[in-house]
Amino acid sequence: MKEKIEALRAEITAAMAKTETGRALYELKVKFQTELKGIMSGMRDLAKEDRPTFGKIVNEFKTDIEEKFEARAAVVRQMEMEKKYASERIDITMPGKSYKAGALHPITLVKNELIDIFAGMGFKVFEGPEIETDYYNFTALNTPKDHPARDMQDTFYLAENLLLRTQTSAGQIRVMEQDAPPIKILSPGRVFRSDDDATHSPMFHQMEGLVVDKGITLCDLQGMLAEFAKKMFTDSTKVRLRPSYFPFTEPSVEVDLSCSECGGKGCRLCKGTGWIEVLGAGMVNRRVLENCNVDPDEYTGFAFGMGIERIAMLKYGINNIKTLFENDTRFLEQFED
Ligand code: DAH
Repeated sequence: MKEKIEALRAEITAAMAKTETGRALYELKVKFQTELKGIMSGMRDLAKEDRPTFGKIVNEFKTDIEEKFEARAAVVRQMEMEKKYASERIDITMPGKSYKAGALHPITLVKNELIDIFAGMGFKVFEGPEIETDYYNFTALNTPKDHPARDMQDTFYLAENLLLRTQTSAGQIRVMEQDAPPIKILSPGRVFRSDDDATHSPMFHQMEGLVVDKGITLCDLQGMLAEFAKKMFTDSTKVRLRPSYFPFTEPSVEVDLSCSECGGKGCRLCKGTGWIEVLGAGMVNRRVLENCNVDPDEYTGFAFGMGIERIAMLKYGINNIKTLFENDTRFLEQFED
């Protein structure tokens, strides 16, 4: 019996030294307990006088092995922790993964900048529908059917009286129908024309402005445009008004800015003139005010409309409008807010 205990002690102690996990240690402990049970039940076969001596030996064996188990458990726990730390170790000197963040499209950047500039002058934003009736897009803007000015814009008709708006000017009518003067609105949005070349796209963006109040004059328009030109381009940008024609304004003007590329000396961008045409504007035609039940003897107003792509192309030196719609990320990622 004694030899059996010593053999078991040697076996368990050796096996224990090899354990590296809590699980293996636990399994060994179960084995030890089963063996111990066997030894204890063997005591019944011993002579009565031998039992106390043998009981002492078994007890010593049990305590010794349990202590060893406890000590080994601490070692194994430490080993397991170290393994875990090693596997979870992070090398903070490794280069990080780079994520590409999206950015705003140059048209959106310019649109937001325009809104910022005009909001600073007290303009509120109004967005009209992209599908318009013939009335809002043309007739109410003093452009009845058969008016030659309809030829200036090649229109996509959806039905006889329904079309894709060709100009954000349609929003002027909707605003004046809704609100009484004083009015000071900005109307950005998409417009559509059957037109397609290096500087024209069948879908493009416009920004409309409308101010109606008592005593508004062309000087107010000029002053506001001078402010806009400075903020959008440079402090030295000058504004020039040239007589023009639009059915919904009288008088009408074409607005030029001094060339941002050459400062007015004349270059390829401005075709040697020193000026670049950027928008159309004028005093709201009496007929348009009347169409919206605004008394033209009491109120006057000015309106203006500009192409957002055109402003973006001038500001960023883009020479083909198509690059703004191809969504090539190599082009787009050059623009930052
Ligand atoms: N709607 C005109 C166009 O698309 C631009 C324009 C000119 C708007 C004069 C205006 C304006 O409000 O007064 O060509």
